Amino acid sequence: MDEHLISTINKLQDALAPLGGGSQSPIDLPQITVVGSQSSGKSSVLENIVGRDFLPRGTGIVTRRPLVLQLINRRAHGSGSAAKGKDSTGSVSNELLDLDISDNSSEKKTDNKKDPGHLNGQSEDNKEEWGEFLHLPGKKFYNFDEIRQEIVKETDKVTGANSGISPVPINLRIYSPHVLTLTLVDLPGLTKVPVGDQPVDIEKQIKDMLLKYISKPNAIILSVNAANTDLANSDGLKLAREVDPEGTRTIGVLTKVDLMDQGTDVIDILAGRVIPLRYGYIPVINRGQKDIEHKKTIRDALKDEKDFFESHSSYSSKAQYCGTPYLAKKLNSILLHHIRQTLPDIKGKIEATLKKYQQELMNLGPETMDSASSVVLSMITDFSNEYNGILDGEAKEISS
Ligand code: GDP
Ligand code: NA
Ligand code: MG
Repeated sequence: MDEHLISTINKLQDALAPLGGGSQSPIDLPQITVVGSQSSGKSSVLENIVGRDFLPRGTGIVTRRPLVLQLINRRAHGSGSAAKGKDSTGSVSNELLDLDISDNSSEKKTDNKKDPGHLNGQSEDNKEEWGEFLHLPGKKFYNFDEIRQEIVKETDKVTGANSGISPVPINLRIYSPHVLTLTLVDLPGLTKVPVGDQPVDIEKQIKDMLLKYISKPNAIILSVNAANTDLANSDGLKLAREVDPEGTRTIGVLTKVDLMDQGTDVIDILAGRVIPLRYGYIPVINRGQKDIEHKKTIRDALKDEKDFFESHSSYSSKAQYCGTPYLAKKLNSILLHHIRQTLPDIKGKIEATLKKYQQELMNLGPETMDSASSVVLSMITDFSNEYNGILDGEAKEISS
């Protein structure tokens, strides 16, 4: 049921894209939106959640268009596949969770040993994980380096190669048995000083773009802050608080915990003594620039992250609430909770949109029924029906 719910949202997102998807979408779909200062580690956090190297990362303004990233947990099939023997009950399984000591997944750990090739960023010819861009329908990217190249190419195509930004999103889906089903949006980082050909009002342009995404009540805000900078001065958190003053849909991520001065830690922040958030903060450690240059694998990075928190005197007692696997799990449950809460509202908006397009088509006459818009219309109709099914199911679940 849960998987079905999120996959319906994902399909809907694609169906609505021709009507002006992304931030212009007529229907405000639940999704997790990443905000923070430039180089705070936003793209690194997303990569670790996906468990594959595929995002352009680095110092400076690397992410220059929104990336709407749909992760789809697709159970592998066929003999010898990694997911063989995993449950088929629709519950989420994720290789990341296998590394999480808080998860009692002894069965998955066995799986893990049988199949040590995953999450090492070196299984490009593995046919069970692939990416697909909305702007290249039908083309499956099995090589994640090529996904990164395509993102760079698409970014440059729209923004020009020299540090320009654009609010037009890139839509990418990743299918894998090793991800949690989530929709994430990577956004350009907040910056103050224009570089290259950037306009003088770059700060405002980026801020406006971020606000467009995070001001929607259905956006869950993933506020990424480097732990070695002052949280009180965090522009990302300030922006998040502008649109979510109660902190009811903001979750904090603290990156670069490994770069903090000796003797300092983020315990006060985690305890809610600095800037409290309802969903709290999760400290993580991503790969540093050197790690990237030396091609450190995500698998190794996740192991080192786990070791760091388990052996650090400040974090060892709460290590199960630290790190990327816990973040991924928490995001998935927040998203599901959020989708359930917003379903009735989404359904109402879908029906209104449906009516509007039906009316438009009728006004245009029967000859337009073959047009692209009628395809969109039939997709919306399908999803509207699917939603009714889901709502019925939900109602039954609640009443039983
Ligand atoms: P973004 O601009 O917010 O998307 O940040 P990136 O993910 O591109 O990261 C910016 C730089 O910081 C890169 O060189 C990363 O390798 C580095 N970085 C990100 N997170 C961490 C971390 O937790 N620890 C360390 N040491 N470096 C990090
Ligand atoms: Na960056
Ligand atoms: Mg980035």
